[in-house]
Amino acid sequence: MYLQMKILYFLLCFLLLNVGVRILQTRRNFSNNNNNEGKDNTSLSNMINPISTLLHQMNDTQLFWKSSFTPRIKGNQIHRTPKIAFLFLTQGPLPLHPLWEKFFKGHQSLYSIYIHSPPGYVPDFPFSSPFYQRQIPSQVTKWGEISLCDAERRLLANALLDISSERFVLLSESCIPLRNFTTVYNYLIESRHSFLYPYDEQGPFGRGRYNPGMLPEVNISEWRKGSQWFEVNREVAIEIVKDTKYYPKFEKFCKPRCYNDEHYFPTMLYIEKPNLLANRSITYVDWSRSSSHPATFGGNDISDEFLKKIVDEHVCEYNGKTTHICFLFARKFTPDSLDQLLHLLPEHW
Ligand SMILES: *[C@@H]1O[C@H](CO)[C@@H](O)[C@H](O)[C@H]1NC(C)=O
Ligand SMILES: *[C@@H]1O[C@H](CO)[C@@H](O)[C@H](O)[C@H]1NC(C)=O
Ligand SMILES: *[C@@H]1O[C@H](CO)[C@@H](O)[C@H](O)[C@H]1NC(C)=O
Ligand SMILES: *[C@@H]1O[C@H](CO)[C@@H](O)[C@H](O)[C@H]1NC(C)=O
Ligand SMILES: *[C@@H]1O[C@H](CO)[C@@H](O)[C@H](O)[C@H]1NC(C)=O
Ligand SMILES: *[C@@H]1O[C@H](CO)[C@@H](O)[C@H](O)[C@H]1NC(C)=O
Repeated sequence: MYLQMKILYFLLCFLLLNVGVRILQTRRNFSNNNNNEGKDNTSLSNMINPISTLLHQMNDTQLFWKSSFTPRIKGNQIHRTPKIAFLFLTQGPLPLHPLWEKFFKGHQSLYSIYIHSPPGYVPDFPFSSPFYQRQIPSQVTKWGEISLCDAERRLLANALLDISSERFVLLSESCIPLRNFTTVYNYLIESRHSFLYPYDEQGPFGRGRYNPGMLPEVNISEWRKGSQWFEVNREVAIEIVKDTKYYPKFEKFCKPRCYNDEHYFPTMLYIEKPNLLANRSITYVDWSRSSSHPATFGGNDISDEFLKKIVDEHVCEYNGKTTHICFLFARKFTPDSLDQLLHLLPEHW
């Protein structure tokens, strides 16, 4: 009995020690991350160091206000490695996370992840996952309503608080990466444009959704439609987060059958920042099966031929030159496609 107690005691100590060391390690790693600009001693460094926890008490007004500040000093006084912010707008779980984990592996300093899931949803990512504790304070969203755009702005704003964030890509739980991390990183960092395509559509699903109440901010000739799944640079991200001019108009005059997630950012950016836009998307989606819903791909759809087709067989323009690297991400993939994707996709990266 005494011996058993001793063994138990011993085991307990061992466990506690382990946990302790792990906590210490994390804290050290956190402070390492935060102090990677440690050489500079100006008060700016307080602004530069990203917040070490994603949990904060700011409401949207305060958050958007704070995140729309931008260092105006030109030049390279402050060395920082630009990062890509991967913004996951989800309904809860991220069933394709093993694929993303494979994609992110080995590139820790070049990206950060932010997840907006319904309030109260508790993910169970292990400590070793890049998705561990990347949840931002969230609110309920409803498809087609302004609350969805609020969630997207919240994701952008949280990512903007880290001034190393240079590019911002919005993704859902059904998205997959089509290229390896290095290719995605260089492609986005070096791009002169943001990937968003505001287009003018005649008929009930385009101009038919315009409401004259939006005048004078938005004239029908400026009314645009576009995919929700954007990729933007820092300047465009700030434009979206700080907007107080268009927001009230869309909140009031764009209600189903008008969908804010298809019109608000495309219209606003078409008016405010047209020359920063690539007028195309980097997220592949297949509209060929139906015009009202994009195709969903499951395990049976995934083959080498299929992947080759969506990865390579396109032509587009990038920084003024013709290229066949047009799509970096794709949607919509079901959870049951995971095994096939893990098996086949990395070969195509
Ligand atoms: C902390 O970083 C070190 C190397 O920098 C790594 O070996 C270790 O696994 C990290 N620990 C945690 C808990 O992330
Ligand atoms: C801050 O660092 C710069 C060099 O990077 C140095 O010239 C300056 O004296 C330092 N200021 C203080 C207050 O330490
Ligand atoms: C956030 O808090 C500020 C100050 O308390 C308040 O003025 C503002 O209306 C709040 N915003 C929202 C969206 O609740
Ligand atoms: C990533 O993809 C590019 C282009 O296909 C290739 O040249 C490069 O070797 C790949 N990098 C890694 C680390 O696999
Ligand atoms: C909308 O813009 C067009 C051309 O830019 C102009 O002719 C028209 O008068 C404007 N409409 C309103 C209601 O302001
Ligand atoms: C995209 O379209 C806008 C006009 O809406 C134009 O100003 C911009 O130059 C276009 N972008 C590219 C890359 O051609």
